[in-house]
Amino acid sequence: MNQILALIGNTPLLEVRRLDTGSCRLFLKLENQNPGGSIKDRVALAMIEAAERGHRISPGGLLVEATAGNTGLGLALVASQKGYRLLIVVPDKMSQEKIFHLKAMGAEVVLTRSDVSKGHPEYYQDLAARLARQQNAFYVNQFANEANPRAHEESTGPELWKQMEHNVDAVVAGVGTGGTLTGLSRYFARVSPQTEMVLADPAGSVLVEFMETGKIASAGSWLVEGIGEDFIPPVCDLSRVKKAYRISDGEAFLTCRELLKKEGIMGGTSTGTLVAAALRYCREQRQAKRVVSFVPDSGNKYLSKVYNDYWMIDQGFIQRERYGDLRDLIARRHKEHAVATVNADETVQAALQRMKLYDVSQLPVLKDDRIVGIVDEEDILLEVYDNPAHFSEPVTEAMESHLVTVPPSAPVAELMGIFNRGLVAIVVDGDEFLGLITRIDFLNWLRRRVQ
Ligand SMILES: Cc1ncc(COP(=O)(O)O)c(C=O)c1O
Repeated sequence: MNQILALIGNTPLLEVRRLDTGSCRLFLKLENQNPGGSIKDRVALAMIEAAERGHRISPGGLLVEATAGNTGLGLALVASQKGYRLLIVVPDKMSQEKIFHLKAMGAEVVLTRSDVSKGHPEYYQDLAARLARQQNAFYVNQFANEANPRAHEESTGPELWKQMEHNVDAVVAGVGTGGTLTGLSRYFARVSPQTEMVLADPAGSVLVEFMETGKIASAGSWLVEGIGEDFIPPVCDLSRVKKAYRISDGEAFLTCRELLKKEGIMGGTSTGTLVAAALRYCREQRQAKRVVSFVPDSGNKYLSKVYNDYWMIDQGFIQRERYGDLRDLIARRHKEHAVATVNADETVQAALQRMKLYDVSQLPVLKDDRIVGIVDEEDILLEVYDNPAHFSEPVTEAMESHLVTVPPSAPVAELMGIFNRGLVAIVVDGDEFLGLITRIDFLNWLRRRVQ
């Protein structure tokens, strides 16, 4: 190839070998292997080329879209290669990482409020439409752009059909805009009308209930990204969907981790929803069927969530051994080497670097594995303020050595007294340091209890 855009599409298809697929065979199309990292590269290229053919953009022109997701990255890749400018409107709840990624790809990013809904002038989609009008730009609008489903009808569908050797019993897909599902529905209606379309929807999204009752309920919330809706997007046609599954976040995330462990595929969170639904479908079948689904994007974007054990524990998706005492509130246990600490013979500078590395505001200071102090940003500031040379002193010079500790058997109520004094709870069993309990650990524990 001599042009990165030529690498979009023609993604590999991999058969799942170690997951339990009952009597069926399950194949996954690895859309994470597109050059922009997701299935949305296909759509971005198709929408821009359709606008070129329709003379709706001119050389060097401006494109506007409202998204913090993969479509923005796909558009940024295609726009930069084709010499267009791109402005992306993003709700301000989106992670910094996503914004850095879009900017690195060359997009201009406009942040807007995330606490307003459709119809409000600052709602991200309304704002994008207005900016496009004001700046005489092309509003890409993937939710209503026919080139979106057409991209799948013309590329994803034929590729799958060929890779599956013209023998597909079911396709399992999610709905973000509905582009994938609608495009594949149209394609398979032509070449293989008996192929069943199966919807994988996050629990909380309105689509399954809409299919079952024709009504749009009020949406809940879910953590899986890229799929699930609180309305029916204009390009979304669910009419050929034969079966639909509601998949909880927990099931999706555990499926992601199992897929990585057993098959070596590190998918994004929506991959977990799709594969969980595909596995349920496969296991329900009496006949041997050939089923396909997708890895729409890569798990690299979700390392700090689904692939982070502590996040999974905090969210209650993984259960740990329970003790029935304060040890259950310690998010990171010292005996599992999970607490960021500093040794008594290390320097103030080392302590500061470790705090930054682990994004914590205090560190226990250990000597022979016993806690001898605790050091926080304020302690370091006081130590070095008059004399920056103190950065190279032992951390013991800066630490607080008057420690308030609690045994695991202390009542939970004791924590409030410690927090009220601006401290963290240091849990020790005799001489043994077990870990810290911070306010956020306490809050997470309370939240898990109500879940
Ligand atoms: C992360 C992600 N983005 C986008 C999509 C596709 O959504 P659509 O084609 O409905 O916009 C999916 C589908 O599974 C997805 O998982």
